[in-house]
Amino acid sequence: MAVQGGLRSVKSPFVTITVFLTHLPQKALQKVSLIGKHKTAVIVGGTLGIGAAIARCFAKLGCSRIVIFGRNEARGAAVLEDLRLLSPTPTDIKLEFVKGDLSDSHSMRAAADALQKAAGEAGIDYLIMCQKGLPTATINENVDGYDTAFAIQCISRFTIAYLLTKRGAFASGASVMSIAAQGQSLDGLSVDDLSLARRLATGLSSTTMFLEQSKRDSSVLDAFHEELNIRHPQYRYFHLSPGLVSSEQFDVNKFPGFIKYAVWFGQRLIGTTPDQYAVLPVYLLTAAPVTADRYFDSKLNPTRIGKWATDARNREALWEKLVGIVGND
Ligand SMILES: NC(=O)c1ccc[n+]([C@@H]2O[C@H](COP(=O)([O-])OP(=O)(O)OC[C@H]3O[C@@H](n4cnc5c(N)ncnc54)[C@H](OP(=O)(O)O)[C@@H]3O)[C@@H](O)[C@H]2O)c1
Repeated sequence: MAVQGGLRSVKSPFVTITVFLTHLPQKALQKVSLIGKHKTAVIVGGTLGIGAAIARCFAKLGCSRIVIFGRNEARGAAVLEDLRLLSPTPTDIKLEFVKGDLSDSHSMRAAADALQKAAGEAGIDYLIMCQKGLPTATINENVDGYDTAFAIQCISRFTIAYLLTKRGAFASGASVMSIAAQGQSLDGLSVDDLSLARRLATGLSSTTMFLEQSKRDSSVLDAFHEELNIRHPQYRYFHLSPGLVSSEQFDVNKFPGFIKYAVWFGQRLIGTTPDQYAVLPVYLLTAAPVTADRYFDSKLNPTRIGKWATDARNREALWEKLVGIVGND
């Protein structure tokens, strides 16, 4: 697997703007070194795309311990090879690939166990979650009875962040970060219909169902990140929208109806590469001034949580539901 990096050639004024906006964090990161700081970064969904690029960015900074999680062993091994090549301290860096699936609650708990073990006594300084459960416009139930894409995109992020927080698996001042669409709202979302089966039964078109699933994911992620921030102020729980990032397996044909064409144009006009984008989350975690902001758009402008997530009753009901899915330790 080739080591990726650098800015791609400028194709449009929009890309010029993107390049300019990532330039400042990139410059700031040039002054950052994690060498000798004994930091542990764990990247879930780190075998591909944005997650792998974030791992590469941490390796370049001299992060001494990087754990990546995913299903694909061959891709995991290739990413670890890249990380060693990119590290300024290749003989000292500790790298580990943890294999696992995040499709149901049992495997999610196993993932939390394995990640805690891999991080060891020192604890996790940076937990970044990039696992992808793209909406499918339909419902494919997992063994828990939840839509599998939703389980990967949302339930697994809650499970891992919640369990690792509860178990004290984080180092002092740790940061948790989710990369996924942020700030949308599925008004009227019921926590008793998180898979949206009742909505699908009304005969929604595939385009509408896809859009509702996307808004649902954003609402759920915003809501539990906000709760985590309120309940555990000693840590920082970030939720960032990546915008349009041309990951290796990004396929416009997976989007229904007109969305496919909108995404196709968007990619060409404002799309970035995983390595271009990765600079922003890593800058936020390691170099940006510490502020109260926890939610950001794809240009790292602070944003707000979506309307559904602003309602404390929704957040409370969701929290109870998600804790019930995770089960007791
Ligand atoms: N790219 C974009 O433009 C964009 C836009 C909006 C939101 N996002 C969100 O940003 C996140 C990262 O996107 P990306 O483009 O980097 O995705 P990607 O390139 O497809 O990578 C997804 C990662 O998730 C892992 N994964 C998928 N299913 C899994 C499962 N069942 N269990 C464990 N790991 C699993 C994959 O690893 P294995 O295959 O090895 O399991 C891979 O490392 C996703 O949540 C995506 O929805 C991306």
